[in-house]
Amino acid sequence: MDLKGKTALITGSGRGLGKSIALTLARMGANIVLNDIANSDSVDQTAIEFKNSGYNVLVTKGDVRNPDDVETMINKAVEVFGGIDILVNNAGITRDTLMVRMSLEDWNDVLDINLKGAFLCTKAVARVMMKQRSGKIINISSVAGLMGNPGQANYSASKAGLIGLTKTTAKELASRGITCNAVAPGLIKSKMTDVLPDKVKENYLNNIPLGRFGTPEDVANVVGFLASSLSDYITGQVINIDGGLVM
Ligand SMILES: NC(=O)c1ccc[n+]([C@@H]2O[C@H](COP(=O)([O-])OP(=O)(O)OC[C@H]3O[C@@H](n4cnc5c(N)ncnc54)[C@H](O)[C@@H]3O)[C@@H](O)[C@H]2O)c1
Repeated sequence: MDLKGKTALITGSGRGLGKSIALTLARMGANIVLNDIANSDSVDQTAIEFKNSGYNVLVTKGDVRNPDDVETMINKAVEVFGGIDILVNNAGITRDTLMVRMSLEDWNDVLDINLKGAFLCTKAVARVMMKQRSGKIINISSVAGLMGNPGQANYSASKAGLIGLTKTTAKELASRGITCNAVAPGLIKSKMTDVLPDKVKENYLNNIPLGRFGTPEDVANVVGFLASSLSDYITGQVINIDGGLVM
């Protein structure tokens, strides 16, 4: 699982799963391009931590929904590191509420960041990877995209959409040596899930055969494998990281 000389761009990597994925890829030897929204302090803090640990790191703040921000981010990464070998579409948000109460704004925000953002980043990075004739694209979906979830019409639709995007990307780019896969985490300990009511957490726990919530490292380890050459013959797949919740 050696990524020396490779460059990985991870969206939404100031904190949470994205940060953990970035750390794993950095430990595997990759140059790291961190991204988060413009007013994110956490991404600056993460960059300092990475630099102090001796990792090669670049911060490119920007909104994945914005084509100009995405373009700038990709150009900057190529300018500094000479290419992009790994893209992890991780940036994502929730705006949970029952569908009958869901505003159009809540729907649009979630679809725009979780799905349109991944499309824009994939499209921009594909240009670079097609020239290189190699690349690994990894989309962070969710079990909510596989099984639906009350209160998450917007989120589950965005994560199911990511699976369709993964399979199409895999088919369109395979002949250029580029693979595209998705992971579908279950309930992972993070700021996003800390806010869930205890009853919801308890209900999940009762349905997880391995009897515990996941950790960001559980997700990062699988992303590390998908980013490495050990996964070269895998494309268009969705790997669940959920302790057996969905099977
Ligand atoms: N935590 C879980 O249990 C879980 C389960 C399944 C899937 N996921 C997915 O994993 C990913 C990361 O989740 P997390 O739990 O670490 O969440 P998080 O809220 O801790 O981190 C998400 C990061 O994305 C950034 N972000 C938000 N909008 C952005 C934008 N427009 N452009 C760039 N960055 C943006 C945020 O600032 C934040 O740093 C998300 O896609 C989420 O849907 C999480």
